[in-house]
Amino acid sequence: MRIILLGPPGAGKGTVAKKLQKELDIPVISTGVILRKAITKKTELGEKVESIMSEGELVPDFLIMEIIKERIKEKDCEKGYIFDGFPRNIKQANSLERLNKELFMKIDFVFYFEISDAKIIQRLSSRRVCKKCGCNYNLIFNPPKKDNLCDLCGATLYQRDDDKEDIVKNRIKVYNQQTLPLKIFYKEKKLLKVVDASVSENEFFLNIKKIISN
Ligand code: AP5
Repeated sequence: MRIILLGPPGAGKGTVAKKLQKELDIPVISTGVILRKAITKKTELGEKVESIMSEGELVPDFLIMEIIKERIKEKDCEKGYIFDGFPRNIKQANSLERLNKELFMKIDFVFYFEISDAKIIQRLSSRRVCKKCGCNYNLIFNPPKKDNLCDLCGATLYQRDDDKEDIVKNRIKVYNQQTLPLKIFYKEKKLLKVVDASVSENEFFLNIKKIISN
């Protein structure tokens, strides 16, 4: 099964992607996670994208497509994959269409996460991420057991640079200009499933599971 999680920053794509990965036993391909790892490791890619990401702008399409082309050819993607944060604009979506044709693959579901800007800002200003294992927490909705420490590996939690309020506002603007048109793109392809992302994590996951099993 091949799934696209489409929605604004902070809508809960990464959170639900991890749950779906366990449920369906297919990998999550998060372009954001791949890019942040490249920055941490100070690779050539990381150096190219660091300042772009810290401003909340989109990374150039050719860099993203290079990542995707390599990744979906890996063995663990044979049974399917979950895209989190890709595609991000019409150009990327068209490139994915071409790539899928070449590889005889097709997308089964595109989940569109509907949520208000106020909730996005609340969730992102309270998100914390583990420095070591990347696990996500939320000071309001899913706090760590010990203050500022990861439950899983004990490392310190930090706030992503692009989770500061003014950058979040720019990410929402970029999303509305560049990513939102994908809602119509996938609706026309009859792949779009609109889901209310403002409900609790568990309810949200159950709703998505129901759609998949139907
Ligand atoms: P990326 O990492 O993809 O960020 P994003 O899409 O902006 O999404 P987030 O990771 O911020 O949010 P999310 O929807 O995953 O929410 P989460 O589950 O964490 O991209 C970052 C940057 O990389 C981009 O700005 C761009 O520069 C670059 N980039 C990446 N992909 C690119 C591409 N394809 N093309 C070009 N550039 C690209 O949840 C958020 C918080 O809310 C968490 O604290 C969580 O615990 C909490 N939460 C989640 N669900 C719920 C719930 N139901 N109820 C209450 N709290 C919840």
